[in-house]
Amino acid sequence: MQIQTKSFIENDQNNHRKIDLNHVISLNQIYANERFDVMNNALKILDYVYKTFSSIKIASSFGLEDVVIIDLACRVWEKPTVFFLDTGRIHEETYYTLEQIRKKYNINLEIYYPDSNDVEKLLREKGPFSFYESIENRKECCYIRKVKPLLKALNDVDGWITGLRRGQAITRNNVFPFEFDIDHGNILKINPIFNWGLENLWTYIKIYHIPYNPLHDKGFPSIGCVPCTRAVQPGEDIRAGRWWWESPEHKECGLHKK
Ligand code: ADX
Ligand code: SF4
Repeated sequence: MQIQTKSFIENDQNNHRKIDLNHVISLNQIYANERFDVMNNALKILDYVYKTFSSIKIASSFGLEDVVIIDLACRVWEKPTVFFLDTGRIHEETYYTLEQIRKKYNINLEIYYPDSNDVEKLLREKGPFSFYESIENRKECCYIRKVKPLLKALNDVDGWITGLRRGQAITRNNVFPFEFDIDHGNILKINPIFNWGLENLWTYIKIYHIPYNPLHDKGFPSIGCVPCTRAVQPGEDIRAGRWWWESPEHKECGLHKK
């Protein structure tokens, strides 16, 4: 498919692609419709992105969505770059999944830690469980352990790929395949599985034997840090186990704007 918008993507002085809002709107007109099945649509999005831009990274928490995206990306690109923000509070099972993916796929894996001075100061002043005390404290911890390291990961990229899906949460009903990410320097944010349902993910994982986090089989549909994630009961919302003491409209850590 010929992308008409290609003509107004230019390179800046560092040879990175300059994206603008009109470009993003045009891409969504092409890729946000339901003309193709969800797998083909995701592959077309990834194929376009990797062929058009030189510096693209996949953000991976090694949850269900992200292992699928890594598998999809490896079908269209020889060695995708994947980054993981290690908050210092993650589950052992997540490391186990990371290791399985690292061994199975030809990827460049980048791991980012929070600034040790920030963490030391937080623990010294507020202790290791400040996030239970208020939303401000919770956001402070997420800022130190996730949002600030994300700035490092996205320094100097044309775009980043995420596993955001519309079905995940009320804060994500409006996710589109392409976003103009002003917060990280006018880069592209790409959500190739924006319209996948949980059943699409599981079907894909089973058909292609993709390694996945064993916590998913223990009632954890959405996995973050250990102290802020719990199992959900059958019938409960898939993000009910994330920051369960907060109301749904607050349940974002700052990686993704509402
Ligand atoms: S969160 O903002 O609530 O923590 P969620 O767990 O739903 O996010 O994940 C949504 C997407 O954000 C993932 O598919 C992935 O692209 C990115 N993401 C979340 N956590 C991380 C992480 N620790 N490292 C890298 N990317 C992440
Ligand atoms: Fe801190 Fe919890 Fe956010 Fe992890 S999810 S960074 S432990 S507040």
